[in-house]
Parts: sequence; C-alpha cells; structure tokens
Amino acid sequence: MTIVVPVDSRDPDPGAIERAAACLRAGGLVAFPTETVYGLGVHALDRGAVTRLFEAKGRPSSDPLIVHVASTAQARALSVRFSPTAEALAARFWPGPLTLVLPKATVVPDEVTAGLASVALRVPSHPVALALLVAAGVPVAAPSANLFSRPSPTRAAHVLADLDGRIDMVLDSGATTVGVESTVVDLSADVPRLLRPGGISREALVAVLGSTRLEEAGPVHAGPQRSPGLLERHYSPRTPLTAYEGQASRVLERMRVDVLAAQAEGRRVGLLIFDGDAALRELHGVVMARSLGPATVLEGAATELYAALRDLDASGADVILAHGFDDVRGLGAALRDRLRRAAAGHVVTC
Ligand code: TXA
Ligand code: MG
Repeated sequence: MTIVVPVDSRDPDPGAIERAAACLRAGGLVAFPTETVYGLGVHALDRGAVTRLFEAKGRPSSDPLIVHVASTAQARALSVRFSPTAEALAARFWPGPLTLVLPKATVVPDEVTAGLASVALRVPSHPVALALLVAAGVPVAAPSANLFSRPSPTRAAHVLADLDGRIDMVLDSGATTVGVESTVVDLSADVPRLLRPGGISREALVAVLGSTRLEEAGPVHAGPQRSPGLLERHYSPRTPLTAYEGQASRVLERMRVDVLAAQAEGRRVGLLIFDGDAALRELHGVVMARSLGPATVLEGAATELYAALRDLDASGADVILAHGFDDVRGLGAALRDRLRRAAAGHVVTC
C-alpha cells in the first residue's frame, strides 16, 4: 500500500513532513516533489534501502543516483574534493536545479554511485523537498520517481501511475514548477563537463564559470555510464514518437503530410504541438492534439512536456508526431534533449 499525503507546497505541514522523514530514516521509499520533477527518495547511507529503490523502479544498478542534501555544508561532507568551482556554482545555484558530480567521500555507499568514484549532489529548492531533507537529517538518494525509461513525473498522479503499491509514501504537492530535470555538471575531472542539460541553462553556468571552459558530454559508451540519462529511449512514452525540427512553416507542412500518410495506413495519430499550430489542430481524425502552450514560452512548455507525453500515451494513438524545439537557448537545450530522447532518434529535420 502506498500512502498519499497531501502537502501544501508553500506551507508544508510539519506533521506530514516528519512522518515522511521518519519513513526515510527507517529505510522506507518516499516520493516527494522537487522543483524539477518528483523524486523517489531513500536514506542514501542505507545500502538495503538503496537496493530496494533500484528494485522498485526497475532501474539497472549501473545507473548512479543523485544524493539530495539540505545545504552546501552537508554536500561538502559527502565529497573529498569540493573544489572552488563547486563552491562558486553552489553559491550561485543552490538551492536549485543544478547537480554537481564530485569525487565521493567513503561514507557514500557504492550502491548509490554504481561503483563510480564520484557522487552526484544537489540541494533542491522546493520547500517540501527542503523541509523533508532538514527533518530527515540524512542525505537522500533520489532518482526521478518513474519506472525506468518512462517520462519523469511532474505530478503525484504520474508517480502513482508507475509506482503505486511499490513504494511506501507519496507527498503530493501538485505540479512541479520547472518540469525538466536538473542540469548535471561533472566537476570530478580537471575541466567541468555538462553531462545533462536541465533547469539551469548553459548560459547561466558560463556566466559563473567565467574563463573556465565547459565541455559538452561525449557519446555514451558501454559499461558504467558517465550519465545514464544520456541513454537513448530514456524519458520515453511507450507509443513511438517522431520529432520534427526546423523552421515552423516547414515543420507544420511536413507534419501535415505525415499525419495524412499515417492515417491512410490506418494508424491513429496523436500530436504534440504549440498554440500557434492551428493548421494541425484542424486535421480530421487526430485522436489527441496536445499543446505545450505558446512556442516562445519555454518555461510553460517545460512544465507541460512530461504530462503531455503521458497524456498522449494514454490517448490510444498508435504514433505521436511532435513539433520539436528549434531554439536551444535557455531551457530550449533541455527541452530539445528530452524530446529527442523521447523520439529515440526518430528526428526529422525540416
Ligand atoms: O532534477 C533531478 O535531477 C531529479 C530530481 C528528483 O532531483 N532527479 C533525477 O534523477 O533526474 P535521475 O536518477 O533520473 O537522473 C540522475 C542523473 C542520471 O543521468 C545519472 O547518470 C546522473 O544523474 N549521475 C548520477 N550520479 C552520477 C555520477 N557519479 N557521475 C555521472 N553522472 C551521474
Ligand atoms: Mg530519471
């Protein structure tokens, strides 16, 4: 039985928080909201709890977890080398949607880091997450609270759809505010490396790093992943999805042609679009046309993206055609990355 506990995100009830904190300290599995997506938390220093977490998610144990802490001081205690760059990024972006990968301290179990010598650390800014971390008094390892390879959950209902009966508790505080996962920056080597674009933009990182170079993640290799979120077919709906990128008028024309072709073959089509894509909305026989709002409002699109993918998955469509993200400034980089992964490589450049 999974207990659902409603918690006001602006004014978290201390009783509810303490109940969840006690569950965590006792080795339980507690899903909680962060500003990015819901996380599935366990006591990070409890090897048994960490193993149960991997089982509940169906996540390969080669996939390291992010350890969530309440403060930079607590983060420093989990790394043997919290570098000046780490200090600068933490001072600017914590609490917030930035994860720093640093050389791990011995107290961090190998189960958490998939045997890597580094640990991913983050101080989330969501008031419920912070209150829970303070009350728990222990570091909390938490991946996104979805089944492995499903879209991340941005509502408590998404958590329950994937994990009801497999975890102890969900703190339900409504929709998350950022909507895509944290930016992951590897600081364990000499040159900082952007492993996963996310809630903090590359531009914002570069503004703090100054003359320090920021590398992009290279291709994914076999074996322990530098960042397994980089695997294809991660964050995916079950329904095959094709993303269309390029200039809007060309994208719309190509999507229109492809919708008609799919329907001619007897396939039911779902559409992921923007408010301005009226020409697509007028097509007959589309089972669902789900908008992410105006194409220029990336913050809005980010809060809707994963919910939209889940809605389209449930719509009965055989195929999903998605208007992709063409502008990679700001949140655009993370949005394009997630939609491309949802497309598992099926990207049409128009
Ligand atoms: O916004 C977020 O980051 C959410 C919330 C719950 O905090 N969490 C999240 O966790 O997205 P997860 O497990 O879905 O993604 C964690 C990412 C993975 O890509 C993983 O490979 C990477 O962080 N990661 C964790 N430890 C790492 C390490 N030691 N070295 C490199 N990458 C690491
Ligand atoms: Mg995840």
